[in-house]
Amino acid sequence: MITIMGATGTTAGALLRRLIELNVPCRAVSRTPDRLRAAMSGETQVEVVGADAADPRALRTAFEGSSQLYLAMANSPHQVALEINAIDAAAACGVRHVVKLSSPAVEPDSTVAISRGHWRVEAHLAATGMVPTLLRPYGFMQNLLLNAPAVAEGVLIGAMRDVPCNYIDVRDIADVAAETLLRPGLGGAAYTLTGPQAFSHPELARLLTERTGRSVRYIDLPPDEFHGHLVRTAHMPDWLASHVVEIQQLAIARPESPDDTVETVLGRPARTLDAFLHEHLAMFAPVV
Ligand SMILES: NC(=O)c1ccc[n+]([C@@H]2O[C@H](COP(=O)([O-])OP(=O)(O)OC[C@H]3O[C@@H](n4cnc5c(N)ncnc54)[C@H](OP(=O)(O)O)[C@@H]3O)[C@@H](O)[C@H]2O)c1
Repeated sequence: MITIMGATGTTAGALLRRLIELNVPCRAVSRTPDRLRAAMSGETQVEVVGADAADPRALRTAFEGSSQLYLAMANSPHQVALEINAIDAAAACGVRHVVKLSSPAVEPDSTVAISRGHWRVEAHLAATGMVPTLLRPYGFMQNLLLNAPAVAEGVLIGAMRDVPCNYIDVRDIADVAAETLLRPGLGGAAYTLTGPQAFSHPELARLLTERTGRSVRYIDLPPDEFHGHLVRTAHMPDWLASHVVEIQQLAIARPESPDDTVETVLGRPARTLDAFLHEHLAMFAPVV
């Protein structure tokens, strides 16, 4: 049995849809199982169970009989502890393979606090004896939708100057995750995952201008001002605003460049940013 943690979330939700497409039986874990069960009604191969990762006993019940686990956890100040709980419960239940959603620049002294957390979780997983598969994607294209209201008003705001970003469509992360769960020989490795082309914020603003037919200009702020903007205007908690600023500063320190892992694993090219923008155009340029 494949068990999916974080099943209402961005990547795990996409993985759940992929496994449904492939008609693979799976178990989906959520803190709000009734809501997920309603969303999954009619999908007979999906078993929905409730568990909070803060509750080790509930996790062990949720993982009972599972051989593989997909572990994606929302970013939060408690993320490391919650993921370690899930890993320990999986080990106790005899799970043999864990596919963990991680991030790039996973280092003990990373300048990105959340990447330091992923490093701790990866190290914990490595010590359990379960087979660890590590997915290390760059920024999700789907996160760009958070910018849609500002873009609709003609601006894209950041602190990343003109450095390139390796945006990836989360459906490609999910497709790679499915392959590592289903295809023998792919588990036990680390996969850096990118889209096919990196785009800077100024290039993204130009692309949005072309696609929406409305002028979109990029405003680059100093990191402190960008942090203040995210807290005051985007209403992000302080830790999340710090994370976004840290990620953008890392992209300046280590310019991103795409690689072909997605295409190598999937045997088809990674989804493009242009196709993503085309698909979501109505959100970036709502009809008024
Ligand atoms: N966003 C990016 O650009 C990016 C890039 C690289 C790496 N990442 C990494 O990707 C991960 C986030 O993945 P995602 O976007 O797929 O996740 P997500 O959509 O933010 O959230 C995943 C799920 O975590 C579950 N969750 C939260 N607290 C929980 C708890 N106490 N117990 C059980 N489940 C809990 C929630 O499920 P329920 O509410 O249903 O319980 C939620 O749906 C992070 O580790 C991040 O560092 C993100």
